[in-house]
Amino acid sequence: MSDINLPQPHATRRGVLQAGLMGSAAIGLSTGARAQGNNPNTQGRMIDYAAPRLDKVRVGVIGTGRRGATHLRLLANIDGVEIKAICDVVPAAIASAQTILRDNGAPEAAVHTGSDEAYRELLARDDIDAVFVITPWRWHHPMAKAAMVAGKHAFVEVPVALSVEECWDLVETSEATGQHCMMLENVCYGRDELMALNMVRQNVLGELLHGEAAYIHELRWQMKDTEEGTGLWRTGWHARRNANLYPTHGLGPVSQYMGINRGDRFDYMTSMASPALGRQLYAQREFPADHERNQMRYICGDMNTSLIKTVRGRTIMVQHDTTTPRPYSRHNLIQGTGGVFAGFPNRIALEASGDFHHWDQDMEPYYAQYDHPLWTQVSGLAAQHGGHGGMDYVMLWRLVYCLRNGLPLDQNVYDAAAWSVINPLSEASLEDRSNSKDIPDFTRGAWQSAGEMMADVYAG
Ligand SMILES: NC(=O)c1ccc[n+]([C@@H]2O[C@H](COP(=O)([O-])OP(=O)(O)OC[C@H]3O[C@@H](n4cnc5c(N)ncnc54)[C@H](O)[C@@H]3O)[C@@H](O)[C@H]2O)c1
Repeated sequence: MSDINLPQPHATRRGVLQAGLMGSAAIGLSTGARAQGNNPNTQGRMIDYAAPRLDKVRVGVIGTGRRGATHLRLLANIDGVEIKAICDVVPAAIASAQTILRDNGAPEAAVHTGSDEAYRELLARDDIDAVFVITPWRWHHPMAKAAMVAGKHAFVEVPVALSVEECWDLVETSEATGQHCMMLENVCYGRDELMALNMVRQNVLGELLHGEAAYIHELRWQMKDTEEGTGLWRTGWHARRNANLYPTHGLGPVSQYMGINRGDRFDYMTSMASPALGRQLYAQREFPADHERNQMRYICGDMNTSLIKTVRGRTIMVQHDTTTPRPYSRHNLIQGTGGVFAGFPNRIALEASGDFHHWDQDMEPYYAQYDHPLWTQVSGLAAQHGGHGGMDYVMLWRLVYCLRNGLPLDQNVYDAAAWSVINPLSEASLEDRSNSKDIPDFTRGAWQSAGEMMADVYAG
């Protein structure tokens, strides 16, 4: 299967660089400059980067499994998108992708398959502008990097990479090639997240102090994916790495409220984890004693709690728990000097209301006053096509709009790196008695002068 040769958790920087050497040579970088993370000609370049506008967005999709199917269906329903080619290693995934395209009125796409490296044939095509990487986590970095080196924008599922070195490598490759590398953090486009962003922009919450983010989603059932599906490869991470494995869904929106990489940035973090008990118990309950799921040793703490400090002194709690029996939550809490918005369930308390001791859970008046202009504009189409309550459609619509209008994207490679690097740094902190770890400034200072995100939306 395609996920057997996993990288070691602590792949050396040299190893990553050697793997990328061909690509680096092709784009004229010396490995010395790369190892510094410090090419003075390009550092910070992608922060407000607008690529030349595209008339049509010609797309290739690598990975047409569960999530890839959603992306294909939604992309097929966005004006100006042409899906030129798809790639997967499983014939059934290719067949169902073609069915999705036909059912949504799009022509069948060219197919690249047959091996784990077949994606390179897709990248070599000259009729593609943007590549969607919707594969298991270990493939995100090599495929995104190769896409940019091949002259394509990379749109990559979460997390964008799995080590500090890989994050730097994507930053430097994006800067050197002038190709976008956007992580597809769809939660940033949820109605509630966009409304909270709008409230922050309108200073309803005052000066921001603290945020809480999470991915609390009981996914033990995926352990039953032993022939195909997400659990086939995702379960292995619980036996391979004790970390905050999937930090970006909660952290992305909170980072955007706080203007991370746009006036503030992550400084350092620390991490603690509970015992890892739930998956072993689940395996004992659900599988025979000699089943492969009972041969694994699950080391990822059931509940991980990480804390981030920003250079402006704010704090963010990020939790990860895909194992314990409890309701779903991303927390989605943002606290300012004037009040607090929190999610799951949505609730607001504002000093200006005169009763901040009690939560107001009636969101309708807030939607009426603070719904984000992007949501207002696109929610009708999003409601027709679905995808996590519309957020998936809004995200794809918006990135296509930005590409076709030559606008900066809302999320750039620095955001992708900063939000994803919490995974490996939480592992490093846990291995070091929860001592704090510095979070790299992937922008190399550009966060201090970056423009406002979605400036075009706010300009009307
Ligand atoms: N943003 C979200 O809301 C969201 C939701 C679900 C999944 N995801 C992310 O999407 C990604 C895919 O998850 P999924 O649930 O679709 O997994 P999946 O296992 O259903 O699909 C992955 C597909 O990639 C294919 N693949 C594996 N190696 C390949 C290779 N070398 N070349 C080409 N294809 C290859 C597999 O055959 C499979 O069809 C993951 O990164 C996951 O974290 C994000």
